[in-house]
Formats: sequence, C-alpha cells, structure tokens
Amino acid sequence: MTRHFLRDDDVTPAEQAEILDLAVTLKRDRWADKSLAGPQTVAVIFDKSSTRTRVSFAVGIADLGGSPLIITTASSQLGGKETPADTARVLERQVAAIVWRTYAQAGLEEMAAGTRVPVVNALSDDFHPCQLLADLLTIREHKGELKGLTLSFFGDGRSNMAHSYVLAAVTAGMHVRVASPESYMPREDVIASAHAIAATTGGSVTLMTDAGAAAEGADVIVTDTWVSMGKEEEKLARIRDLGDYKVTSEIMAKATPEAIFIHCLPADRGYEVDAEVIDGPQSVVWDEAENRLHAQKALLVWLLRQP
Ligand code: CP
Ligand code: NVA
Repeated sequence: MTRHFLRDDDVTPAEQAEILDLAVTLKRDRWADKSLAGPQTVAVIFDKSSTRTRVSFAVGIADLGGSPLIITTASSQLGGKETPADTARVLERQVAAIVWRTYAQAGLEEMAAGTRVPVVNALSDDFHPCQLLADLLTIREHKGELKGLTLSFFGDGRSNMAHSYVLAAVTAGMHVRVASPESYMPREDVIASAHAIAATTGGSVTLMTDAGAAAEGADVIVTDTWVSMGKEEEKLARIRDLGDYKVTSEIMAKATPEAIFIHCLPADRGYEVDAEVIDGPQSVVWDEAENRLHAQKALLVWLLRQP
C-alpha cells in the first residue's frame, strides 16, 4: 500500500529513526542516492508562500537525480477549480510523488486517498511534519540522542508547528512541554494521539500556562510565529494574547546551560523571539534550515522504497 506523510505520526518510532539515519547519510554525501534518476518528476504544489520548503524540495529532488515541478495554486486548476482527488488522478500518471503545502488537512487526505504515488504534507493548517524531521535531525546533531530530552515550545500551541512538535517529539521518546495561554492549547485529539505514542516510547507531553516553569531545565527551546499563514486578521489579538510567551534571554537562562534554540523560520524578531536569542550563541536555526534539504531527501527516498 502506498505510504504517505501527512502528519508526524504517519511513521512509527522505528521508521522515524530510519528516516533520520538516512538523512545523516545523505548529509554526509549529498550525491550518494539517485532514487529519482530518469529523471523522475516530483510535483511540489504551493497554496501558501514559501522560501525554505520550495528551495529545499527543488534542490533535494534535483540532488536525487529527479526533476522538481513547482506548481503555484494561482496558476493551476487547484484551489476550488478542480478537486484534490481529480488532481491526484492526473498527477499520478506522470509524477513519482506529490508534495503539497495547503490549508486544510482534509485536502491532503483527499489527495492521498486518490493516488498511488506518495503524498507529502509540506505544511497544512494542522501540521508541518517535514519541518519536524529537519528539527529532530538538528537536535540529534547538537545533543546526541533524542530520547529523554526535554523540548519546550512557547506561543501558539494550537498551531501546525506545535501540533507537529507534540507528535514528532514523543515519537522520538522526548518530553514535550507546550507553554501557551489556555485558549491556544493544542487540539485535544492531537494530545490524545501524543499520549498514546508516548506510552510506547517513554516520552511525555505536558501543557503549561507558566512560561518560566516550562523553560526550567529544558534541553531545547522552541517557538514559532504568533501569526501563521491564514491567521493575519487575528494579528493584533495574537500579539496581545501571546506576549507572555516570548522567548527571551530570561527564558533561555532557565533552560540547561547547553540548551539550543530552534525556530522553523521565518521569524519576527521582537515578537515570538528576541533578536539576542535567535542571533545568539545557543541558536541553531541556520543548521535547522539547511537540514530541511537532507531530511526531506531522506523522506522521499524512504517513501519511494516502501513496497
Ligand atoms: N519553515 C518553513 O517551512 O519555511 P518556508 O515557509 O519558507 O517554507
Ligand atoms: N506556523 C507557520 C509556519 C511557517 C513555516 C505558518 O503556518 O505560517
């Protein structure tokens, strides 16, 4: 059966580790794998803006010997003009995989249900699982093992990034803390899934409203924009509501002295993170951005290898 990667828990803990191991190998030798030789084409579709995802998929697909076909919704028949299911049926006759950045998770599910080629979520309103593969790779590089580490997320706990941290980090056996106001806590079904995974990996997930307490002794400090794509109209309310969850030097000082700071980018300095943190010595955000390339190449190779 075709495997898809629509959310972080679409892979088991063992499979996640396998993809990360492959990413390490491909990072050591960028040209080692030519799984897309032919060249085979991968469709990479964007309903929302992107810099990192667009570049890393385009470069990665080319590295693997393939040809990236970048499609923007405005210039295609998607986006209300043709259904994801019909689009999937057209694409699968010509491409090796479909990568899609969109709004509703349901669209990705419809696309995946309608095709025999792997579908990859390149960010939806609910999850950003490709980012998490890169983030886990980055944490592994800087901290060694993932299992047992404490990762604290600050800010919009109901965002795609927070949901993905919760699922992916517990899959890796990490302890995840989400520091958010009550009304921005992660969705209950996502937390329930995370608890079920944590029971098998030794990880945990804890929801906290006290940002200082969430930072205490953490190994990894994480935040994301307070205004995700599609939430622009809520900007002022979000700045007001999330102000206590900014990552500052004071927050970093509560974490372990060796703690790292990560952020998927783009960042709004002075809002979710102070410049002295993201531009400071504990920040590894540029390694993280590079690792999108290696992690997504590994993901594509792994998906294409599945029977
Ligand atoms: N982090 C991330 O996905 O960045 P882009 O929006 O630039 O792709
Ligand atoms: N949460 C952000 C992530 C951007 C990469 C957004 O959805 O806009």
